[in-house]
Amino acid sequence: MIDERTIVKQLNTRWLGKSIRVFDTIDSTSDYLIGIARTSPERGLVVVADEQTRGRGRFGRRWFSPRGSGVWMSLMIGDIRLSGDSPALSLAVASCIYDAIKSLYNIDLTIKWPNDLIYENRKLAGILLESVIGRDLEKYVICGIGINTDLSDVDIPIELGANIISLAEITDAFVERDILISEILNNLEFILDSLRDGSLNIRALLFGKDCLVGRRVRWYDNHYELTGTISGFREDGALILNCEEKEHCLVSGSIDIFI
Ligand code: BTN
Repeated sequence: MIDERTIVKQLNTRWLGKSIRVFDTIDSTSDYLIGIARTSPERGLVVVADEQTRGRGRFGRRWFSPRGSGVWMSLMIGDIRLSGDSPALSLAVASCIYDAIKSLYNIDLTIKWPNDLIYENRKLAGILLESVIGRDLEKYVICGIGINTDLSDVDIPIELGANIISLAEITDAFVERDILISEILNNLEFILDSLRDGSLNIRALLFGKDCLVGRRVRWYDNHYELTGTISGFREDGALILNCEEKEHCLVSGSIDIFI
């Protein structure tokens, strides 16, 4: 079980995680926080669950969240004032998770733009960002984070099997989820403050962490698709794709990498 006192003891934040609710089981930590934002919003509130029965991923996909097997957590953050589709927040959160895992387990993951953490082509973690207008008419972003920490005792659905991985499988170590949570929150507060005041350079933050630069990829969203090579990032985290001698700056969508 995740221990709230252990999380709090390790925290050195000013506003993020000053209030934490830990659930044994919940439908979805993000759905819970969306409900709270609508009734009694609280910037910095963090919700963690040992199990989610209706965990959600991007594009309405189901997020596999079995008991005791991951960090299933959502945070309520104030408006970062980014343009609607900017990938900056998702990349900033991904970078904080990357740094936390690197410092605790010395593992080199990669960030797959715009929101996945990958180890050897398998997904370890993902981020889901949603925004809600609170009861006070302010905008709140609900940031959902899912990290697979130990899937060794669970039956993994066949369609996910080869595509996901957990920290325990990579490190062979016991993963203390409470410590990992505090490490992420400690990293994240400063990054969110810098993003809000405009001082964060996402391109610099991603340096050495991304897995797309130089790769041939297919980019797609609901309407379009492009095939080309990734040449880098803009300072705000937009992905630069070269396709038939034209440069495209992409702010949202998904990527398939050609192996
Ligand atoms: C993705 O990669 O598709 C995003 C996955 C986000 C999953 C997390 S787990 C905690 C929070 N609650 C949810 O229902 N989803 C997010």
